[in-house]
Amino acid sequence: MTKNRIKSHPILDIPKKEPAFFYWDKLKLEAIKDEMISSALFANNIKIFGHHHKDGSAQGIFCANGQCAKCTVIANGIPVKACMTPVRENMIVESVKGLPRLPDVDKNPQISNIEHLEIDVLIIGGGPAGLSASLQLEQEKRRWIMHI
Ligand code: FES
Repeated sequence: MTKNRIKSHPILDIPKKEPAFFYWDKLKLEAIKDEMISSALFANNIKIFGHHHKDGSAQGIFCANGQCAKCTVIANGIPVKACMTPVRENMIVESVKGLPRLPDVDKNPQISNIEHLEIDVLIIGGGPAGLSASLQLEQEKRRWIMHI
């Protein structure tokens, strides 16, 4: 039984969800099917997912939306972001001690459906500077795309 879950609420119903079991550093833990690994670890009171390779500082949830990689764990042998990766039944999840190792592969992965674009400017970020740049480029009739 997980320790850190909302089990009752004065207003909202807590829906019943299907459990899933996974392993954290060889310890069998309960999760909710398809929840993110980070949520399952937090529900089991595990908040340190690994340690930084340079200074050994604790790593875990930082942005919680896939932007920082501070939550990296090894899931079934592959480094993944715990906040973006769903738990699978019997998944073996391990903490990262130092830099994660990539698995050995025999051949390059198949990558298909890559769209090729001809543009003048790639704007990285959709904040005030990115939006301002897009307005300026639009006035100059330049071809641009924005990566948010
Ligand atoms: S917490 Fe930042 S990527 Fe997961």
